[in-house]
Amino acid sequence: MGIQITPSILNADFARLGEEVARISSADWVHVDVMDNHFVPNMTFGPAMVEALSRSTSIPLDAHLMIEDCDRNAPAYVEAGAGSVTFHVEATKAPVRLAREIRAMGARASMALKPATPIEPYEALLPELDMLLIMTVEPGFGGQKFLDLCLPKIRRARELMRKHGVETWLQVDGGVSVDTIARCAEAGADVFVAGSAVYSADDPDAMVRDLRARAEATADLSA
Ligand code: DX5
Ligand code: ZN
Repeated sequence: MGIQITPSILNADFARLGEEVARISSADWVHVDVMDNHFVPNMTFGPAMVEALSRSTSIPLDAHLMIEDCDRNAPAYVEAGAGSVTFHVEATKAPVRLAREIRAMGARASMALKPATPIEPYEALLPELDMLLIMTVEPGFGGQKFLDLCLPKIRRARELMRKHGVETWLQVDGGVSVDTIARCAEAGADVFVAGSAVYSADDPDAMVRDLRARAEATADLSA
């Protein structure tokens, strides 16, 4: 799989979500930020909204769960129609069991790390995951500044994936824009969330294509 762009609808107009998703037809996935006002100080969507979105678009949904007790709460998002479900390791007691459960239910299993969470303790989990999400802002809000201090972790995660010979996708989320995407691609990311960069653009789909071209150009140079 090559470069993928997964726009976040966190900064879209929530009163017109169906139309907002129709404005990003080149997207590989729609990134849905689920927040419970406990794991992060913000609240957004639940399974009912994911289900409604999954009926309104043919683009697959990438649910990013920023909620507590993922062991208990994550399966509902697979049932709601998400094709990929990301749980935070900081909010999960049994990540191996949960990843296996998500896969057994038919979705891609993904695990997220906050900026201060290292990858090394989770090296052995990589073969259990379809995707690893490295946050490049503190989760909770769109529009924050990209944290360069996360770049060495992206590089390290890519090295560990090569070492284990796994095809795990490596997603970055937070502050990704035309100014920062090349740095992420150069470090080894291949799946890019962009929220405010896409939805503050006059033409969101043109921005998706621009981000993809920049990431592909950098990935080709680094190959
Ligand atoms: C932050 C969310 C991100 C956010 C990205 O907690 O997980 O997906 O919406 O928005 P930008 O691209 O504006 O940082
Ligand atoms: Zn997200």
